Amino acid sequence: MSQATNFSKLIRSLWVCFLLLMAINTLAQRAKSEKSPIQKGLKDAYKKYFPIGVAVAVRNLHGDEAQLIKKQFNSITAENAMKMKAIQPQEGVFYWKDADSIVSFAVKNGIKVRGHNLCWHEQTPDWIFKGDDGKEVTKAVLLQRLKTHITTVVNRYKGKIYAWDVVNEAIDDDPNHFLRNSKWYQICGENYIAKAFEYAHAADPGAKLYYNDYNTERPEKREQIYRLLKSLKDKGVPIDGVGLQAHWSLQEPNEDALRSAIERYSSLGLKIQITELDLSIYPWEPSKRIKRPGESDVFTAELENKQAAKYAMVFKVFREYKKVITNVTFWNISDRYSWLDEFPVMGRKNYPLLFDRNLQPKKAYWEVINFKNK
Ligand code: GLA
Repeated sequence: MSQATNFSKLIRSLWVCFLLLMAINTLAQRAKSEKSPIQKGLKDAYKKYFPIGVAVAVRNLHGDEAQLIKKQFNSITAENAMKMKAIQPQEGVFYWKDADSIVSFAVKNGIKVRGHNLCWHEQTPDWIFKGDDGKEVTKAVLLQRLKTHITTVVNRYKGKIYAWDVVNEAIDDDPNHFLRNSKWYQICGENYIAKAFEYAHAADPGAKLYYNDYNTERPEKREQIYRLLKSLKDKGVPIDGVGLQAHWSLQEPNEDALRSAIERYSSLGLKIQITELDLSIYPWEPSKRIKRPGESDVFTAELENKQAAKYAMVFKVFREYKKVITNVTFWNISDRYSWLDEFPVMGRKNYPLLFDRNLQPKKAYWEVINFKNK
């Protein structure tokens, strides 16, 4: 073979190698950009961890908010539409329109649904506690009404709602008391809690059932909640987990308190879902009031940085506990609207979420989504 032929073979081989390398590089780039959380949404970045959810109302299911929901989230909770007063305002009269719209939006877009909630002391219709004579009903009547409500609602969404907040906020805020002195408790005693879980389980044995509460990281309340959960587990009540509402702030919880709570509850063999996450820029206040004249509600750069750092910390902890944390849901979509704009201080704007009023990502968003680069 002549030297010239060898040379041209070598050139051809080098050329083939070059083309192959180019092709591999292009494929690698494409794979990288497809995986990149910046291109996609929170739900994609957290695919190997847990679903990322958001609380919605029907008005959010159109326009720019709907686009944001579809891009960023793969779990949905009805902010109000499934609460007892909304669904059964009068005995036997069920209002399904809003709840149905939310569930069909989710089903159509491959989004999971958390049901919220089946038994609570708020947003509950008065009729449920009263007889025709206007007097308080007996325990037997109230439990029968609770059973009818839970059975009807859980049945309707069987197979579509994968997890339910069965009982919401049954623990008293006063550490000297155990259970909240609600109408449920006054009429039924402690027993209504176990019964609610039993009714829900009978209606959909496939649904995961949660007890949901707030301030779950404060040691005194944590221990009260632990006591309730342990007694339910000991009695063989069908409960799968505990919902930490996570209405948090720049001040609390700290990392230790958050870890201790997760460890404590999961030691009972229960799963944990973060069900109502938002991070207020203001310290907690015990009672409601109106915004004072001149009181600032500006979202300063300093507050934005602090909030981003806090979100980074809580998500770092969530990721570490991915074996027990099975959902992280934000309470509302963006700072355009949050229930914290009116609570606890009426008329004071809050900025508790990952997206600003124009639905643009805030610093906190980048902290939450870019964890792989750290
Ligand atoms: C509690 C309830 C939620 C919601 C918030 C306030 O956390 O569980 O359904 O009402 O309060 O918006």
